[in-house]
Amino acid sequence: MHHEIEDMFNLQGRVALVTGGARDLGYDAACVLAAAGADLVITSRDLASAESTAEELRKTYPVEVLALALDQTESGSVVQTMDRAIEWKGRIDVLVNNAGGGFGESPGYLFDRDPADIDGLIRLNLTGTLWCCREIGRHMEERRSGKIINIASIAGLLGRDRKMYDRNDMSGQPIDYAGAKAGVLGITMDLACLLGPKGVYVNAISPGGFERNLSDGFVKDYSERTALGRMGKDGVDLKGAILFLASSASDYVVGQNLAVDGGFEIWH
Ligand SMILES: NC(=O)c1ccc[n+]([C@@H]2O[C@H](COP(=O)([O-])OP(=O)(O)OC[C@H]3O[C@@H](n4cnc5c(N)ncnc54)[C@H](O)[C@@H]3O)[C@@H](O)[C@H]2O)c1
Repeated sequence: MHHEIEDMFNLQGRVALVTGGARDLGYDAACVLAAAGADLVITSRDLASAESTAEELRKTYPVEVLALALDQTESGSVVQTMDRAIEWKGRIDVLVNNAGGGFGESPGYLFDRDPADIDGLIRLNLTGTLWCCREIGRHMEERRSGKIINIASIAGLLGRDRKMYDRNDMSGQPIDYAGAKAGVLGITMDLACLLGPKGVYVNAISPGGFERNLSDGFVKDYSERTALGRMGKDGVDLKGAILFLASSASDYVVGQNLAVDGGFEIWH
């Protein structure tokens, strides 16, 4: 490969932090960043789970990996974990704000949903993400360098057809999830304006549905809603977008939302 391409994507000597990096999409982000040479900090609510993934990553890639516990619904945990992450090598060059998803046991249907779960979900997906941006963004601003990638969702861009969920006996996604992820896109744009002039680049990725523990009926229904006719694949489909936004290949890209959704968003 020509050195021009290698130089563009090389992350050797950089340190990347992936929240929720112990499994699934966060793990995929951690893998591609390690493959590009970055040392890693990965977090999980459960330290043992972060430690076990860290060990796996160390065996696979010639990089250093630090595992930390993080509950981003607690501001104290965010401050403590982000401080320790920065202290490790004195720098964080890339933050992937991946932790998020569902919250609480109550049904997704708005009128049956527990108000405390609405609050918790927004705290996890939006407030927690902003808290992580705050701690690491401050550090990046001081260094006048860094890349922040916020993982949002196409749920923050579009309303959903509940028939597809009902037909497949799924409760569907709660409306608070759409609100929180739309909020993530909002903070991405405004933070990009705040930090862009200071050399810190902020962007978002909005994944579509990834195929994981879902019924054949839902996979078929969902796939038909995408231009590419399939759901996203773990271990494969997120990695390119992460590497692009984490590396110098995206040095003139700020405040953008990259949909990694097989064309769900455009297929109407
Ligand atoms: N899987 C999909 O189809 C899909 C689609 C669109 C967006 N997303 C988003 O991508 C991200 C990763 O999704 P995933 O499918 O890998 O989800 P997942 O549930 O497998 O992983 C979520 C991660 O967040 C962490 N997490 C949960 N609660 C936390 C808390 N309170 N504090 C700190 N960490 C916490 C978990 O430990 C886990 O590592 C999420 O933000 C999700 O909303 C996923």
